[in-house]
Amino acid sequence: MESVLNILWGFPWWAWVLFFLVLVAIRDIFVQRAHTISHNFPVVGHLRYWLESIGPEMRQYFVANNREELPFNRIERGWIYASAKRENNYEGFGTDRDIYAHQHIFIKNQMLAYKNPTDHPNNIDPSFIPCAKVMGAYNNRRKPYRPASIINVSAMSFGSLSAAAVEAMNRGVMKSGAFHNTGEGGLSSYHKQGGDVVFHFGTGYFGVRDKEGNFSMEKMRQLVEDNPCIKAIEIKLSQGAKPGKGGVLPGAKITPEIAEIRGVDLGVDVLSPATHSAFSNIPELMKFIEDIAENTGLPVGIKGAIGKLDQWEQLALIMAKTGKGPDFITIDGGEGGTGAAPPSFADHVSLPWTYGFSSLYKLFDKYNLTDRIVFIGSAKLGFPAKAAMAFAMGVDCINVAREAMMSIGCIQAQVCHTNRCPAGIATQSKWLQRGIDVPLKSDRLAQYFKTFRKELIEITHAAGYEHPCQFTMDDAQVNVDDNDLNRALSATYVYNKNAVPFKGMQYLLDCPYLGGKDYVADIQKEQNTTKEVLNKTVLEPQKF
Ligand SMILES: Cc1cc2nc3c(=O)[nH]c(=O)nc-3n(C[C@H](O)[C@H](O)[C@H](O)COP(=O)(O)O)c2cc1C
Repeated sequence: MESVLNILWGFPWWAWVLFFLVLVAIRDIFVQRAHTISHNFPVVGHLRYWLESIGPEMRQYFVANNREELPFNRIERGWIYASAKRENNYEGFGTDRDIYAHQHIFIKNQMLAYKNPTDHPNNIDPSFIPCAKVMGAYNNRRKPYRPASIINVSAMSFGSLSAAAVEAMNRGVMKSGAFHNTGEGGLSSYHKQGGDVVFHFGTGYFGVRDKEGNFSMEKMRQLVEDNPCIKAIEIKLSQGAKPGKGGVLPGAKITPEIAEIRGVDLGVDVLSPATHSAFSNIPELMKFIEDIAENTGLPVGIKGAIGKLDQWEQLALIMAKTGKGPDFITIDGGEGGTGAAPPSFADHVSLPWTYGFSSLYKLFDKYNLTDRIVFIGSAKLGFPAKAAMAFAMGVDCINVAREAMMSIGCIQAQVCHTNRCPAGIATQSKWLQRGIDVPLKSDRLAQYFKTFRKELIEITHAAGYEHPCQFTMDDAQVNVDDNDLNRALSATYVYNKNAVPFKGMQYLLDCPYLGGKDYVADIQKEQNTTKEVLNKTVLEPQKF
């Protein structure tokens, strides 16, 4: 035995390499049948597969220019990373964009910008922008809710995101006064870290389902009663990346924790059907909304991606006739993100955000319903100028999913569907998510939201307004084509936004339904102190 080992040890290193390559060649030619290239070009054929696998990273790091990549280019990602870290997020030397390009947006500045009076809430917190409308106010819900932030975390479930990512996001929304939408996977302990929560469910009714997988009102009522952090409920009809597409959660992925949170059996495949079992038509959807609102007292909204308009029109018609209906509507764009979707759906089904939203707003305007609804927009709107355009078009808040992921470290590896997210965000791998420092990442999300709001308020002031709800369709222009280089949004999308009643930022700060408890309390405390100091200064003039 010893002599055999001695002979083997005696071989030079290159003989071992040669031996290994011969083994690979034998496997390529005679054993495997799956890869023609490896069979026809043994050993070297592997190079092709390897180069192809690292191609996206090579292009992202070395080849793609700053504005080239999708869904988010390097400049956009860099702006989020720098904003989240409170680093210098400016650019030098002027824009590197072709501002004559098709679809380029311009916000029209006022000759003299808006100036905050002394004692204005934005002098205390330059990032304070609550929603100008109250969810559930029109329908007299028992627990109306005014989001304390106009930017919030969009639906992403625990399951598609890791526990560490969900926890970091919830702590982040608490620090910035925003709300956290649970996504379809139910309410987990990671969503209960102090931030306001919007409970979201889809056709799987996870967290509020009975044994047969049907919606359970009793569970819904109990969930809301046990969790005062839930401020509103969102029924998912569809999302931009895969409208009308069901899904399967494989039994192998169902851990005891996920089984408990979602209310499903351990190890058994769970179906999320393409359609809801709780309602089959618009009148039934209307009744479902009212039942949930009546049972929970909370504002109830719906989320959808826009395609055909006939059923939306039916909804608007019933709302106009009955005086009832959803308290908020989240409109997602076809360019929206997902944990996993077939490319045919993600690329082609449902309209892009501006087309979808403008069609829907016009429809609700036709029935005089826009003031009753809080409109939430989502799909790559997490950038201040794009948000300003969305406000001009009629949104009251925006939701961000992938931008929120980037603020806590997502590098756009685009492998959410493989469970191998290198940043530990879209994975259930314990090892990968261990890399997330939850307190640090929650600060990053909060800082991204605050920087975003601060820049949006600066753009708002530049346009001569106090709050972005005051933007009109004539305050923004878009390049439409070569002959008519740019047109106001009102001419491009053929409608005018209705004025949102707005009585000043102080009025919003004083609203009893304002969310973001801890964040708002800090502003109020600081404002009271400032007032005390001001009063004292007036009463006791300094002697010189
Ligand atoms: C990882 C991930 C999971 C998502 N999960 C859900 C979900 O459970 N329900 C839903 O309606 N939308 C879901 N979405 C869509 C987002 O909520 C959002 O509508 C969409 O990504 C557009 O926003 P964005 O451009 O800011 O990412 C998910 C998106 C991502 C990236």
